[in-house]
Amino acid sequence: ANPSLLILPGDGIGPEVMAEVRKIIDWFGAKRGLVFDVSEDLVGGAAYDVHGVPLSDETMAKAQEADAVLLGAVGGPKYDKLDFSVKPERGLLRLRKEMDLFSNLRPAQCFDALADFSSLKKDIIAGLDIMIVRELTSGVYFGEPRGIFTEGNERVGINTQRYTESEIARVARSAFELARRRGNKVCSMEKANVMESGILWREVVQEVHDKEYPDVELSHMYADNGAMQLVRWPKQFDVIVTDNLFGDVLSDCAAMLTGSLGMLPSASLGAPMANGRPKALYEPVHGSAPDIAGQGKANPIACVLSFAMALRYSFDQGNDADRLEKAVEKVLADGVRTADLMQNAGETPVSTSQMGDAIIAALDAS
Ligand code: NAI
Ligand code: MG
Repeated sequence: ANPSLLILPGDGIGPEVMAEVRKIIDWFGAKRGLVFDVSEDLVGGAAYDVHGVPLSDETMAKAQEADAVLLGAVGGPKYDKLDFSVKPERGLLRLRKEMDLFSNLRPAQCFDALADFSSLKKDIIAGLDIMIVRELTSGVYFGEPRGIFTEGNERVGINTQRYTESEIARVARSAFELARRRGNKVCSMEKANVMESGILWREVVQEVHDKEYPDVELSHMYADNGAMQLVRWPKQFDVIVTDNLFGDVLSDCAAMLTGSLGMLPSASLGAPMANGRPKALYEPVHGSAPDIAGQGKANPIACVLSFAMALRYSFDQGNDADRLEKAVEKVLADGVRTADLMQNAGETPVSTSQMGDAIIAALDAS
């Protein structure tokens, strides 16, 4: 059977950028014999409009079965007043939770043609290619007790940073596996100087390393220093592994080293399935961009690069992932730009579909 791919375009610019990815998926089928069993379904506001929930049980079941899920974006002003339990974001959270996607991969990669685009000096980011692995299903965003309580005559807000050994070990493995396919180097970040959960984090990452991945170079860094080093000299890193809270902050910081939200892909991985590949959800980092939705202005590259990650991590097609990333690089080097990548007044942006077509043309030429 062909590998299966569930596509959830979602809301706003989600369907617009996904339409370009569909063209690229078709290209790989026609030109590379890489045929996917593709099905498409609803998530977010689009699902709410039809089913009254942001993710139906049926779609959830399909996501559990699929070899990979590719999502566009969810949300929009139309849904802002909905009850919390049926908000579009809940559809995404349900996918992450029920698929148990504990390892969130956020690359920060600099395409040469966009090196001027960063607010940092060119030599700091030219050629940058790092990966942040953020623990996604535990830590202070989930730990109990949590809440706003009354203590004496004032209120107190409480959240609990909590990690079990096995939660740390599995995300550490995910980072080491990844490092072996890249620069073979992992830097683990926590605050072991002031947090017990940080002490355990450091110990467990070191144990997993010593027992299972002694070939990978491992270092440890306090997360506040890590934030500084990311901006000072990010090329010192290959893979960074960190907890949910630090990962949230550090990955947004790292992402912006390289430029536009319209360029950033992500992957969220879970435990291995029967075929040995992890459960996986791929999505651009950006949201549904209601301010530009329906105008053909959206940059589809973040979604295209998310599909490239799927090729690499779910379908073992590293060469084809490289081919697609090179095609994107070529298009950018040729000066093809959507509006979000414009630097100078007077330049003419291309539309979402023109960008998709340019990537196809570059693939054809590859
Ligand atoms: P956003 O990422 O949708 O947009 C932020 C800014 O970046 C906007 O000016 C937008 O036009 C621009 N932008 C984003 N993606 C772009 C692209 N591909 N090409 C060109 N420009 C792009 O974040 P915002 O405005 O905070 O949220 C809008 C909606 O999206 C909200 O309903 C929010 O809840 C939802 N959202 C959904 C996410 C998801 O589905 N994973 C993530 C973030 C927000
Ligand atoms: Mg964030």
